Amino acid sequence: MYLGLDLGTSALKALLTDDKANIIKEESASYDIHYVNGNGTEQYPLDWIKALNSILIKLKDYLPQVKSLAISGQMHGLVILDEYDNVIRPCILWNDNRTVKENNLLNQDKELIYQETNNISYTGFTLAKLLWVYNNERVNFNKIAKIMLPKDYLIYYLTGIFVSDYTDMAGSLLLNVKDRTYSQKMLDLAHINIKQLPTLKESYEVAGLVKDNLKKEFGFVNTKVVLGGADNALAALATNTIEPGTCNISLGTSGTILMPVKEVINLNSYALHTFSHIKGSYVMGCILSAASCRKWFLEDILNTNDYYADENLIQQADTKDLYFLPYLQGERSPHNDPLAKGAFIGLTSQTSRSNMSKAILEGVSFAIKDSYNIAIDAGIKINSLTLCGGGTKSKVWCQMIADIFNLEAKTLVNEQGPAYGAVLLAMLGDKVLAFEDINKFIKYDKTYLPNNVAYYDDKYKYFKKLYPALKKVFKKRD
Ligand code: XUL
Repeated sequence: MYLGLDLGTSALKALLTDDKANIIKEESASYDIHYVNGNGTEQYPLDWIKALNSILIKLKDYLPQVKSLAISGQMHGLVILDEYDNVIRPCILWNDNRTVKENNLLNQDKELIYQETNNISYTGFTLAKLLWVYNNERVNFNKIAKIMLPKDYLIYYLTGIFVSDYTDMAGSLLLNVKDRTYSQKMLDLAHINIKQLPTLKESYEVAGLVKDNLKKEFGFVNTKVVLGGADNALAALATNTIEPGTCNISLGTSGTILMPVKEVINLNSYALHTFSHIKGSYVMGCILSAASCRKWFLEDILNTNDYYADENLIQQADTKDLYFLPYLQGERSPHNDPLAKGAFIGLTSQTSRSNMSKAILEGVSFAIKDSYNIAIDAGIKINSLTLCGGGTKSKVWCQMIADIFNLEAKTLVNEQGPAYGAVLLAMLGDKVLAFEDINKFIKYDKTYLPNNVAYYDDKYKYFKKLYPALKKVFKKRD
């Protein structure tokens, strides 16, 4: 058997499969995001370990048969350990915006940073967080013995080995994506040295075996821990988004659009990221709030967990003059504006819950299209689209995306792209699967054909005008 774990922002998810990647069991354990000082987001690495242990207990009867496991992780988070392996402070997450000052400073010389890393800095990237700790928590900074990304902490817990992979480290701004080596210039900017960073391996390589104490506790027998990688890269693997021309949209807490490229290309724009794929590289736009906008509206505002109660009403709702801007947590791609805010525009006394729900789904999809258009303008050609992530449980949303992107959109039988990508890597690492055969293991579910294209083309023209018009309102007035 094989086990894929996905250390997401809202929960740790697990898929247990047989050696043909058929799902035997699915588990998940959630944890909180802590919102700090208005623009910060943090999680306790210990909460991840508690979630992992609770899942391993539930799977205990199966674990003796698990030959290998791999881990997918939320990207960019900063986990720091002292010389005794204690976590120094809570992990600062990928959607945290406290680093505005550090980020602006780093981007003063965008060309240098781009040359070194194929990316510019964003407030959520790991380097800006390190500088923030340096500037604001020097005592903590001086204690740092190990710097890790979130999933690397789980690998370290399971194996005792301090290691990371290229797909995840590409989001740190410490890696030269083209050369696949740490950039000394970036390390210098962060005031760190290479000994504080994990050794780098490929996502399909074995980090080590599960440690003896955990073998005893959970029943593992010589289980290999395969590196795994960034959740987006693993979702791309799970949807066979590997070759140029393919494209995957993931609707999770964040919304991403990922497009593999043959070689690192110059995008003539700093609005998108260039990160490492399992093999090669990809271009990606990331919006900070996607399915989380719907979660906010339903759970926090309407006080309900019933996400699908009004799918029919949503489908029929008229949102011709209603718009939603999804910048609830500031925005990354393409605006790179931590001060951006969410908004409903066009409310009337007739606006209903389903109108607003539909406008949210449209606003998130349009915001993802903003990144897609930048890639298309840079000459990237896309002819196939897959969708994954929790948001794809909504058929109305999947159809809307096919319409808005004017592309046939395929969903997966199991919407958990990153965890399924981790299963495939566990199998690659155990050498029961060859890279060329991955496509045989992708199980597609539905295909959505573009339909309402002209309507959404027209609506998108108006959507595009809203952020530039409101930008000034969002800025701090002091
Ligand atoms: C990608 C990004 C998010 C996280 C969420 O750059 O920040 O997609 O990986 O898990």
